[in-house]
Amino acid sequence: MRTICIMNHKGGVGKTTTAINLAAGLSRQDKKVLLIDLDPQGNIDLSLKVNAEHDLYDAMTGKIMLNSCIVNLAKNLDIISSKETLAKAEYYLYRQEESKLVLKQLLSQLHGYDYILIDCPPSLGILNQNALAFCKEVFVPTSTDFLGFDALKKMKEIVSEINDAYGNNAQITKIIPTMFDKRNKICKQTLKEIQESFGNKTSQPIRMNSKVKEAPKHGKSIFKYAKSSPGAKDYGQLVYEVVAMES
Ligand SMILES: Nc1ncnc2c1ncn2[C@@H]1O[C@H](COP(=O)(O)OP(=O)(O)OP(=O)(O)O)[C@@H](O)[C@H]1O
Ligand SMILES: [Mg+2]
Repeated sequence: MRTICIMNHKGGVGKTTTAINLAAGLSRQDKKVLLIDLDPQGNIDLSLKVNAEHDLYDAMTGKIMLNSCIVNLAKNLDIISSKETLAKAEYYLYRQEESKLVLKQLLSQLHGYDYILIDCPPSLGILNQNALAFCKEVFVPTSTDFLGFDALKKMKEIVSEINDAYGNNAQITKIIPTMFDKRNKICKQTLKEIQESFGNKTSQPIRMNSKVKEAPKHGKSIFKYAKSSPGAKDYGQLVYEVVAMES
């Protein structure tokens, strides 16, 4: 079972978009996937029209069993949603003795998935520290601009600090350049810098594509909403690369 958090403390770089489309793409490749929303913004519930009755907060605080907040959305694709209540979980977590290990203890009960993907909030707070203490892999979507590249360098330090603090060995295994526009000089320069720094961990870039932006309004992944679009092609290529890493 691969446990992957999709994380970047910088906001709006394509984390949720990547989490949704990667999860959908992997499930279409016959991989059994659980997609977990760890962001109080609750974007996954909204973008995929899940309408979950219970969310991660209910399970984290012991109100309900973890299994009761798992919703099956499609063949091979299960979801655990979040709502704004998850912001309250931060207070709850700080009061726990092992506050950074609550998620790990909860999710360690899960079996039978090929992939657990966690969509993380844009912060360096306790929720993300919990995700880093559980996952073995970190995928970092990063916008192809100057500030995006700067945030990416910081992510490397953060992962290593959490590993040291909680005895984990999470590795950044994929950098995903997003919102790429090949006509834009900064985008091309930034992509080159990312590739020079991170070598073959860098995926093919995800191009800026209006269909990718529209899909959440229709409650669909890019593969369902516009299967011939550049966005579907780019996320399809990412799925291919991620599956290839298995060997
Ligand atoms: N390849 C793309 N082409 C066009 N629009 C995109 C693309 N990727 C993401 N977007 C849009 O950019 C915005 C931010 O994307 P997204 O919500 O995935 O970022 P995020 O990193 O999860 O944000 P946050 O930090 O707030 O959680 C959204 O409106 C999304 O539809
Ligand atoms: Mg998001």
